[in-house]
Amino acid sequence: MDRMLKVEKTSFSFGSLSVFPNTILSPMAGVTDPPFRRLCRDLAKNRMGLLVSEFVSTDGSSDFSLKNRKELKFYPEERPFGIQIFGRDPVRMAKAAGLIETLQPDFIEINAGCPVPKVADKGGGAGLLRDLDRLAAILRAVKSEIDLPMTLKCRIGWDEEHINIFDTLRIAEGEGVDLLTVHGRTRVQGYNGFADWDIIGETASRAKIPVVGNGDIVSVNTAREKLEKYPIVGVSIGRGALHNPWLFGQIADAWEGNPSLEISLKEAFSIFEKYYGYMLEDGITASGALGRLKQLAARLCKGLFPENLIFRQSLLTSETPIAFFEKIALFIEDDCSLNTQFYPDRLVNLNGKKENEVTFGRQFKG
Ligand SMILES: Cc1cc2nc3c(=O)[nH]c(=O)nc-3n(C[C@H](O)[C@H](O)[C@H](O)COP(=O)(O)O)c2cc1C
Repeated sequence: MDRMLKVEKTSFSFGSLSVFPNTILSPMAGVTDPPFRRLCRDLAKNRMGLLVSEFVSTDGSSDFSLKNRKELKFYPEERPFGIQIFGRDPVRMAKAAGLIETLQPDFIEINAGCPVPKVADKGGGAGLLRDLDRLAAILRAVKSEIDLPMTLKCRIGWDEEHINIFDTLRIAEGEGVDLLTVHGRTRVQGYNGFADWDIIGETASRAKIPVVGNGDIVSVNTAREKLEKYPIVGVSIGRGALHNPWLFGQIADAWEGNPSLEISLKEAFSIFEKYYGYMLEDGITASGALGRLKQLAARLCKGLFPENLIFRQSLLTSETPIAFFEKIALFIEDDCSLNTQFYPDRLVNLNGKKENEVTFGRQFKG
């Protein structure tokens, strides 16, 4: 049960933007496209804080162009909305940022956190943390090209021997970054283990610019605890949004002093129809949409108590959207669902393993 304790920090500002609640739906490639963002917005009654695009590559052999970039699509009702770019080349990044500015997002974000080898090993994403001069050059070039606020999202360092977030902060401040989001893992950690919130907190306490913390926020209480303990202005929520797409609304309700709403099993599983409808409206094919339904189902089913691995497995092996929805309808009508509760923040950690199974092993080679 959430403590009905008043949180002091419920909003933040940067540039001329004022953001309530002080949450960000973390950009996630292959997840946070317009239909998923719309689903979260809908469940939160539009109280999302900030929304960001999936990342957009600026690397390539031909000139950056705005054509055929589905990640750039956003709707006016999503504001305040930012577009995130990644790449290794300051000139290409600046040119891309200039073109993207013509689409009139509310801010442009530089990615210095992507751990994927094909990005990081080529010097983009988290690769920039091994070459802070390059990061500085990118920030400088982008800043001089755009009038919009520029934000930076980064990790705390490349690996545990090279935690350089305080240097990154100094560079960000020197190059005019308006808001810094710190994911408290190293590149080598990937998404394993837990984020180091003490380092995020120390960064925020040294910062002259607003700092948002990111990593392992799964409930109103985890958001509240981090905001109370550390001098961050807000929290950015990634995988927690897949386990609990209601989370932004729950946080907004808690900050506004509203009672927290219980979500029935039926309500929980009705969001799939809504999500599917949004995907079709957005031009996603039925088979593409099925993959995304399963992606959400895999996480949402972790909130079932008692666990029901047979139902989960059966959903995840559905061959068509119709079969997927039939299985949900049967489950909801079935007697066993009468004894099943849905607790979206029941999960122990975001790595999909039970607490004692968490591995701190390396996901990526240093
Ligand atoms: C599937 C997936 C895709 C991601 N794509 C991006 C991305 O495009 N840009 C980015 O800055 N971070 C990306 N991330 C990282 C998240 O934004 C976030 O920093 C990370 O998941 C830690 O937050 P969490 O513990 O709340 O999930 C991605 C993460 C996941 C799991």
